[in-house]
Amino acid sequence: MNGRQESDTIMSSVDFVRSRTSLLPRIGVVLGSGQGTIADRVDAEVELGYGELSGAPLPTAAGHSGTLTLGRWQRCPCVVAQGRCHLYEGRSREEATYIVRLMIALGIRRLILTNAAGGLHPLFRSGELMLIRDHINLMFRGFLCRSTHAHHQATVAACPYDADWCDRLAAAIGATDTPLQQGVYAGVLGPNYETRAEYRMLRRIGADAVGMSTVPEAITASYAGVSVLGISVITNEAKPDAPRRVSHQEVIDWAGKAERRLAEAIEAAIQVMQ
Ligand code: HPA
Repeated sequence: MNGRQESDTIMSSVDFVRSRTSLLPRIGVVLGSGQGTIADRVDAEVELGYGELSGAPLPTAAGHSGTLTLGRWQRCPCVVAQGRCHLYEGRSREEATYIVRLMIALGIRRLILTNAAGGLHPLFRSGELMLIRDHINLMFRGFLCRSTHAHHQATVAACPYDADWCDRLAAAIGATDTPLQQGVYAGVLGPNYETRAEYRMLRRIGADAVGMSTVPEAITASYAGVSVLGISVITNEAKPDAPRRVSHQEVIDWAGKAERRLAEAIEAAIQVMQ
């Protein structure tokens, strides 16, 4: 598909969404592995399956249902995606960023990306949240699709995450008894989890957590002028001396256990910017 056909597909999905609801979302939320039921907190106006959106790729990874909910969350008009497509599913960068590009075309000004991640930092524990302050792109490709790239050739690759939003959320969560970590997310291609030697390397190059998503969406949204916030749920201890190998089930289980914490953090993130 060329750039023109790509944006036609997004625009026909926009038309479809607009034919189902007049809600104009201001905030987009993409929920990560095993975190989809958080969308039940949205006061929904409409729920759409990705299959109803022309050109939207269907997620295949466990824990990603492929539903788009439009409604109000904390009274704010939102669009919430349960499920994302990853590069490791054999998806192109256009497919991996489709839902976020649709949200941008629907007019969002802010985007919250959540994910499950391995905790590389020695003090991180499973079930904790990490605010993403910055990322390291280890996916070995760029994510400016043809349509976004043309407008931003002169833009320097700065940190895609909104520091002011992070500060405000950290202060809000700091006033509660929920533990909150902050750090650098390394985005890798996967689908395998890392070797111990890779965990050691990732730590040495400055990463605090590692996962297989978020980087494509954060780059796409920030280059389109959308403020981005990233929250990782630490689902396993990604340490060179960890006693066990990580399994996808463990990741999904910990994502489920941290669901309430994550939901409350998202709600605080919406509130602090209203
Ligand atoms: N590595 C990569 N991706 C992940 C991990 C991990 O340890 N845990 C959850 N997603």
